[in-house]
Amino acid sequence: MELTFNAPPQRLGILLSGRGSNFLAIAGAIREGRLGGVEIAVVISNVAEAPGLAVARELGLPHEVFVSKGRKRAEHDADVLACLRAHRVDLVCLAGYMRLLTPEFIAAFPNRILNIHPSLLPAFPGLDAQQQAFDYGVQVAGCTVHLVDEHLDHGVIVLQRVIPVLETDDAHSLAERILAEEHVAYAEGIARVASGEYQVQGRRFVKRNASGR
Ligand code: GRF
Repeated sequence: MELTFNAPPQRLGILLSGRGSNFLAIAGAIREGRLGGVEIAVVISNVAEAPGLAVARELGLPHEVFVSKGRKRAEHDADVLACLRAHRVDLVCLAGYMRLLTPEFIAAFPNRILNIHPSLLPAFPGLDAQQQAFDYGVQVAGCTVHLVDEHLDHGVIVLQRVIPVLETDDAHSLAERILAEEHVAYAEGIARVASGEYQVQGRRFVKRNASGR
């Protein structure tokens, strides 16, 4: 599969379920002018009490809640999709969104959904990645910004950042240091996608050559 970003996406839809520190980092990068014409079109939470949602409110950003608990996945996703479309979102950023997306949702934004995962994929997909990495005894750890496909933590890698695991680390301190890298990585990953300078070639996310192909 090859994909070029001829019309670079600029309007972000942020999906979150909790703390929202990655969302805040993205908002900070935009505020500091590090993301060109990128703007946050809407912040959506599937959890009414998500602290990230309160942050969106404080920042005066458009925000919506679609509580997922007790609802059918397809119906919930259809509501979120409609909201993203209403806000003319062209790039969806999962930022601690604790939900699997339906195939219909993914198909609606082909190569236009980003996720951040706190490990160097393909190692340690799924929950508690930092603890998994620590328990395994890895000597380097990090985070991955990737496109979302229909498999868990699997899509094309946009960007990774690596840190050493220190002898003094425990799983908690490692997770904290990975999180600091995530905050840098997510904005950089979005900048790459939004620059229009990259394309997907098979599993590779590569810079277009000088002729623009
Ligand atoms: C981050 O560790 C991210 O990698 C993972 O979920 C966590 C979300 O944290 N997908 P926050 O809500 O952005 O603070």
